[in-house]
Amino acid sequence: MVVRPAEIGRIRAFVPDDLEEITELSNSCLTEYYTQDIIYDIYRAWPEGIFVYTVGRGIKGFIAGARYTRTEGRILLLAVEREYRNMGIGTALMDHFLDVCRQNSLLSIRLEVRTDNNEAIRFYRRYGFSVTHTMPAYYSDLSDALLMWRML
Ligand SMILES: CC(C)(COP(=O)(O)OP(=O)(O)OC[C@H]1O[C@@H](n2cnc3c(N)ncnc32)[C@H](O)[C@@H]1OP(=O)(O)O)[C@@H](O)C(=O)NCCC(=O)NCCS
Repeated sequence: MVVRPAEIGRIRAFVPDDLEEITELSNSCLTEYYTQDIIYDIYRAWPEGIFVYTVGRGIKGFIAGARYTRTEGRILLLAVEREYRNMGIGTALMDHFLDVCRQNSLLSIRLEVRTDNNEAIRFYRRYGFSVTHTMPAYYSDLSDALLMWRML
C-alpha cells in the first residue's frame, strides 16, 4: 500500500520548550513511563534525532531516536495522538527519521516493541523491519519485547 505523507500539519525540529507537551503525549500513548529529564537526555545525546509533527500549534506526534553504534540508529520513542492515527503522521515522522539517519551515514536501524503491540508491529513491518529475536522481560512490567531491525 502506498501511503501519502500526512498533509494536515508539518514536521519541525524539537525544541526544549516542547518537553512538557511531548512528555504528556508520550505517557498517554506508551506503556512505559518517561520523565521530562529522560526525554531531555535523549534530545541532548542526538538533537537531530528528535522531531515533532504539529497540527496548528499543537504537537500530535513525535519520534525520538539515538545513535546506537557508529553505524546503527535506534528508535526510542514514536507516538501519535490517538485521534490523529491512521492519517499518515507516523509515516511522515518515520520517513523523515530514516532520511536523517541516512544523512548521518547510518547503515541500519533497530527498535524494540511490545510483543502484543500489533498496530506498531504492523506499521514497522510495512517499513521492512523484521523481528530478529525476542527479549524476555524487557519492560518494567516484565513483558517481552521484539527486537526489530532493518538496513537503511
Ligand atoms: C504506531 C503509530 C506511531 C503509527 O502512527 P500513525 O500516525 O497511525 O501511522 P500512519 O497513519 O502513518 O500509518 C498507520 C496505518 O494507517 C494507514 N494510513 C496512513 N495514511 C492513510 C491514509 N491517508 N488513508 C488510509 N490509511 C492510511 C497506513 O497504511 C498504516 O497502515 P498499517 O497499520 O498497515 O501500517 C501509532 O499507532 C501510535 O502512536 N501507537 C501508540 C504508540 C506506539 O505503540 N508506539 C510504538 C512503540 S514501539
